[in-house]
Amino acid sequence: MKFATKIKKVNPEKGYDLLKKNETLQQAAFLIKKGQVVAFPTETVYGLGAAADNQEAINAIYEVKGRPVDNPLIVHISEKEQLFDVIVGRIPELANRLIESFWPGPLTIIFPKNKKIPDITTAGLKTVAVRMPSFSITRALITLTETPLAAPSANSSGYPSPTLACHVYEDLKGKIPMIIDGGACNVGLESTVLDISNHKATILRPGAITSKELARVIGFTPEIIKNKKPEKTPASPGMKYRHYSPNTPLILINKNKFGAINRLISRYNSNKTAILVTSENKDIIEKENNINIIKMGSNNKKREIAHNLFAILRKLDQENYDLILVETLENEGLGEAIMNRLNKAAVDEY
Ligand code: TXA
Ligand code: MG
Repeated sequence: MKFATKIKKVNPEKGYDLLKKNETLQQAAFLIKKGQVVAFPTETVYGLGAAADNQEAINAIYEVKGRPVDNPLIVHISEKEQLFDVIVGRIPELANRLIESFWPGPLTIIFPKNKKIPDITTAGLKTVAVRMPSFSITRALITLTETPLAAPSANSSGYPSPTLACHVYEDLKGKIPMIIDGGACNVGLESTVLDISNHKATILRPGAITSKELARVIGFTPEIIKNKKPEKTPASPGMKYRHYSPNTPLILINKNKFGAINRLISRYNSNKTAILVTSENKDIIEKENNINIIKMGSNNKKREIAHNLFAILRKLDQENYDLILVETLENEGLGEAIMNRLNKAAVDEY
């Protein structure tokens, strides 16, 4: 279907209670209740949402994004009680502890799914991924729709996730009726996806909540599924596709190899190269005319890097670079999630 996509600004600072009376959010909720798909901000990235129990609307989400239908969606709720509209059985003790500490917020937990959630929402899996976003606009919208919302990130499949309303517009213009503009997403990276079946804790996708933060609450260190290369039967179906990739080739480069930058540039025949570096290491690189050195944030403030990363990658694509080099970060704290995205986005690594 063709739409004249409207971008509508909503001020998140008004807070949850006032936002429930906001006209734009009421319109968006009305559209969702009618079975439409709407894009909205969350604290992590922008989401593309529809009623989780509406098969046709969920179908439209896959179509609009060009998402493979075997990659399940996350279901978003605004109250803990809503979990029982989505999952089957009791809430395990481990989940209760996690919910207590991290909800509302960027932690997605996998549960056994109940029958109200159609198979298409979970891509045929018997489990469902659930999260309760903390962002005021998202929570108010879910409350107004009176139903859990299934929502993937609101980008075209494979491209970096949107952290601004204009990113959603670039990707989905004409394909959806409305984008709610709530400004820049605070975190800038997606939620952590955690599987807690069999009394274990397995991170299927590292994200905004780090494994250290999880360990502090559950008393042991969760395992992180490593999935650099596509697998035949990955634990999370989203793992086997290429993700987060700008159109411009992106190469990861260790700071010890910065001396080889010029060789890389000639190997890739690049006339316009961007190199994303931490502020600590920007001076190691020799300045040359055809290289633009871009600070992505400080190594000690990974939140800054997470916040900026996707927006920078999208901007570089628009500015017609023909090569993007990105400094490899330590795989620690939020670095786990950032490097997970960069490893998937990269075509090569030095
Ligand atoms: O921060 C976020 O999580 C954002 C915002 C919009 O909430 N959403 C998001 O959704 O990143 P998406 O669809 O881009 O990524 C969902 C990830 C995929 O890797 C998918 O495979 C995994 O969660 N997933 C969903 N349901 C699952 C399930 N039942 N079992 C295992 N993995 C699942
Ligand atoms: Mg996504």
